[in-house]
Amino acid sequence: MDIVELIPSLRPIVAAIDELEERHGRTFLVGGAVRDTIIGAEAIDLDLAIEGAGIDFARDLAATLGGLATPYGDFGTATVAFAQGSFDVASTRSELYASQGALPTVEPAGIDEDLLRRDFTMNAMAVALDSAERGLLIDPLDGEADIASGTVRVIHDASFADDPTRIVRAARYEARFRFGLDSHSEALARSSVKAGHVSKLSATRIGSELSILSREETGIEGFARLDELGAARALHPSLDFAPVAIADMKSAEALNERLGAGAQAWRLRLAVATRAFEPTERIRWLDSLQLARPDVDVIDRAAGSAPELNARSVEAVSLFDLHQALTGEPLEAVVIALAAADTTTSGREKLGSFLTTLRHVNLTVTGDDLAKLGLAESPAVGRVLNRLQQKKLDGEFATVAEELEAARELIRSGEFN
Ligand code: CTP
Repeated sequence: MDIVELIPSLRPIVAAIDELEERHGRTFLVGGAVRDTIIGAEAIDLDLAIEGAGIDFARDLAATLGGLATPYGDFGTATVAFAQGSFDVASTRSELYASQGALPTVEPAGIDEDLLRRDFTMNAMAVALDSAERGLLIDPLDGEADIASGTVRVIHDASFADDPTRIVRAARYEARFRFGLDSHSEALARSSVKAGHVSKLSATRIGSELSILSREETGIEGFARLDELGAARALHPSLDFAPVAIADMKSAEALNERLGAGAQAWRLRLAVATRAFEPTERIRWLDSLQLARPDVDVIDRAAGSAPELNARSVEAVSLFDLHQALTGEPLEAVVIALAAADTTTSGREKLGSFLTTLRHVNLTVTGDDLAKLGLAESPAVGRVLNRLQQKKLDGEFATVAEELEAARELIRSGEFN
């Protein structure tokens, strides 16, 4: 298999490396792109490693490609962006973990050592990019055989203890590729959890791995696996990836798809997973995952509002009441309320009809239009808009012109002043 040939986005980069040949060390494609190409999947993120100064190399490559190199971190790492895409560059290095869960001490090293510092055998492969040895697969731990047998295997026994975020990564890879940890690696993961390594991790470090997992197509299976490994409660005592929560995530997601409700699956998942949190603790923990503020707000609302939204829907006596009761709520919150609603109350049907139909029935006419029709800014504006919304929900308008005409009539009648 010629991995370099199989990745079209590498072509301009390899051509640029050829132009630079005199000025840098041995260069490799490493990690996920090699793994994915061997698996037969598309390589999306390209990571290059160089036995030399990564940032200088990235700058030279960027200049040759007409792009820009942006250095980051302390490990000779940079991102190169150019017209046809972007890729990361790093200096090959070894890592020494002085204490468990802390960040490692880093030293420059050759490619072999660089591969040995990595998480799993399937991620510890490199392909040479320099013309002299281009396409050569460096696979010191036989990651290729582990890929063939569908095995997620740690490279050494201290791997999870050194970096417990790898337990979340293992669950992600198992779920994504339908692979399984080999029994020794699994035993190591379980004893690392038991030894408290996961609980000692900072939320920021675990946060980025958890948020990547929650956005994967097979993220729910990954959550279930973390529960099975005993890691979920170690991540946070209130975090719920237990079978009932997993089933609820699946039904919320299925409802969302069936109704075309427009909620984001990953936010639904995290809302279910955090529903047992005490509210201020939930916000604190979600914030520590480094999610964007609007995502935190939506997940928090969706996690904590099901009974309230259900009650509001049950109480609504008209379509207008129902529309008012739920408009402005995150779709994730309405989907979760629906998934949790008791089938014997009217809440279920009403929440469903809001998601499928009512949420789309919104006025085209605005307060500005009413002003143009002569209605000055006043409480009457809100009253006219509400009346129009009611009529719209009752199916009285087929066109914008009809909405405007009704607005004109209502204003003329003067009954809302
Ligand atoms: N890595 C590691 N331990 C971690 C994180 C990363 O050993 N806790 C190594 C792995 O070799 C991994 C590489 O760093 O292949 C790059 O990490 P990342 O970008 O997270 O993963 P990818 O391999 O690119 O794969 P994916 O994004 O598909 O997970």
